[in-house]
Amino acid sequence: MAKGNHKINKTGMTLSVKFEAVDDPEVIRFTHLQNGSTWSGEYLSREEYADREHILGQSELGQLHKSGDHIDRFEDNAKHLGIKHFVLKDLTLPETSKTSQIVASCETMNRVGWVMVPGSEEITPVLTACVGGVFTLKHHRGRGYAKKMIDQLNHMYDSLSESSDDPFLKYMTIDLYSEVDEYYSRNGFVSYHVPVYEIHQLAALETRYCDALGQANKSPVRTLGYNDYEDLVELQRQQFRKQMVEYNDGSKFLFTVKPTLETYMWFEDRDIFVSKKFHEEKPIRFGAALSDGSHIVWHHSWTSHSLYIIKVYIATGETQNADNALASLLKEAVKECHLTKLTYLEFWQDEIPPETFPVFYSTLRQVESGHNLSKVNHSLSAIRLSPSCQKYKDECLWLNNTKYCWF
Ligand SMILES: CC(C)(COP(=O)(O)OP(=O)(O)OC[C@H]1O[C@@H](n2cnc3c(N)ncnc32)[C@H](O)[C@@H]1OP(=O)(O)O)[C@@H](O)C(=O)NCCC(=O)NCCS
Repeated sequence: MAKGNHKINKTGMTLSVKFEAVDDPEVIRFTHLQNGSTWSGEYLSREEYADREHILGQSELGQLHKSGDHIDRFEDNAKHLGIKHFVLKDLTLPETSKTSQIVASCETMNRVGWVMVPGSEEITPVLTACVGGVFTLKHHRGRGYAKKMIDQLNHMYDSLSESSDDPFLKYMTIDLYSEVDEYYSRNGFVSYHVPVYEIHQLAALETRYCDALGQANKSPVRTLGYNDYEDLVELQRQQFRKQMVEYNDGSKFLFTVKPTLETYMWFEDRDIFVSKKFHEEKPIRFGAALSDGSHIVWHHSWTSHSLYIIKVYIATGETQNADNALASLLKEAVKECHLTKLTYLEFWQDEIPPETFPVFYSTLRQVESGHNLSKVNHSLSAIRLSPSCQKYKDECLWLNNTKYCWF
C-alpha cells in the first residue's frame, strides 16, 4: 500500500500522512464507531450503526470477491470486488495503539459495471468502485486530510488500472454519492444531479392514477421476497444491454452499474436491520411483479418513514402501456405503505423517466405539492474515469443513475 508521504496543505502545514487499506476488523469497527457520530441518525446508537455496517460488509455484495461465479468469470481480478476499507494516518501523531494515528477513513463498494468506449461496439464489464463513508475525525477537520485521502485512493485505483491491459481494469470507473455538494470535484470527479420526487398524496395518486390506469392489468401480482427474483433482475440486465446499444453512437463513453440480485439484497439487509427499531415482524415484501415481467423493487426507509422506489422495470416499450403497468405497480407500493405504516413514496427521476410516463407526471403535477417534485438530491452522484479514459470525461453518459446503485 501507499508509503507515508509529505505534502503542504492549504493551511501551509506539512502533512506527514500514510494511506492504508485495512482489513483488521477492530480497525474497521473503530472507523464505523467514529462515522456513527454523523450517520447513525436518531434511531440507531453508534454501536448499532457499527453492527449494521458490519452486517452489510458481510453481505453477498460486500463479499463479492468470494463469489464462485465472479471468480470463474474474472479469475484473479475477482479479488478487487466487494467492500474495501481505507484509513489515512497522520504520522506525526503518537503511535500508542493501532488506531491512534487515524485521522480519516473511507470505503469503496466494488461491483461490476458495464461500459462502451467511444468507437467500440462492445459492452465491456469493468471494475466499478463506489466510494462511501468518507469521514475525517471531528477535531482533525479542515486540514486537507479528506482531500489527501481521496487523492491517494484515486492514485491507488489509477495505478491498478494502468497496471493491466485487461479492459476490466483498464476501463474501470470510480463513482460516489456526495453529501457535501461539489467537494469531490477537487479530486477530479464530475457530478450528475438527478432530481428526487416525493409523493405524499397517496390516496389521490391511487384514485387518479393507479385505479384509473391500472385497470388494464388484471393478472395476479407476484410479491418479491428477499432473494427470489433473479429471473426479474435478468430482465433488467437484458434491458440495460439493449439500452446501451441503442445509446451508442460511437461518440460517448457509456456507463451503467450492472444490476444484480446481490445489490438489492444489500438494500434488504439494511432494511431488515433498521426495521427492528420500528416493527416486531421483519419486512417480507420487497417489491411486486406483473405477469409480463414488469416489476418494482422498493426499500423501506424506516427512518425517513418513506418507501423508496429503487427500481422500476416495464416490459413494454409503448408509452400508453408503460403508464398502465406503472399504475399497477404503484398500487402495490401504496398498499405496502399502508401495511408498513410508511407515509410517502420517494424516487429518483431517472428511475421513472418523464418521457416514458407522461400520464404519471401530469397526474403528479395535479395532486402533489410543487415543492415535493423535482427536488434537489442531497446525494449528488459523481464519476471519475480511469487514466486511459480521462479523455472522454466530458463525453460520459451515465445510464440508469438511480437509487439502486447508490452506496
Ligand atoms: C466532509 C469531510 C470528510 C471533509 O473532511 P476534511 O478533512 O475536513 O476536508 P478537507 O480539509 O480536505 O476540506 C475541507 C473542505 O471541506 C468542505 N466541507 C466540509 N463539509 C462540507 C459540506 N457539508 N458541504 C460542502 N463542503 C464541505 C469545507 O468547507 C472545506 O472547504 P474549503 O477547503 O473550501 O475551506 C468532513 O467534514 C466530514 O467527515 N464530515 C462528516 C461526514 C461527511 O459528511 N462525509 C462526506 C460524505 S459524502
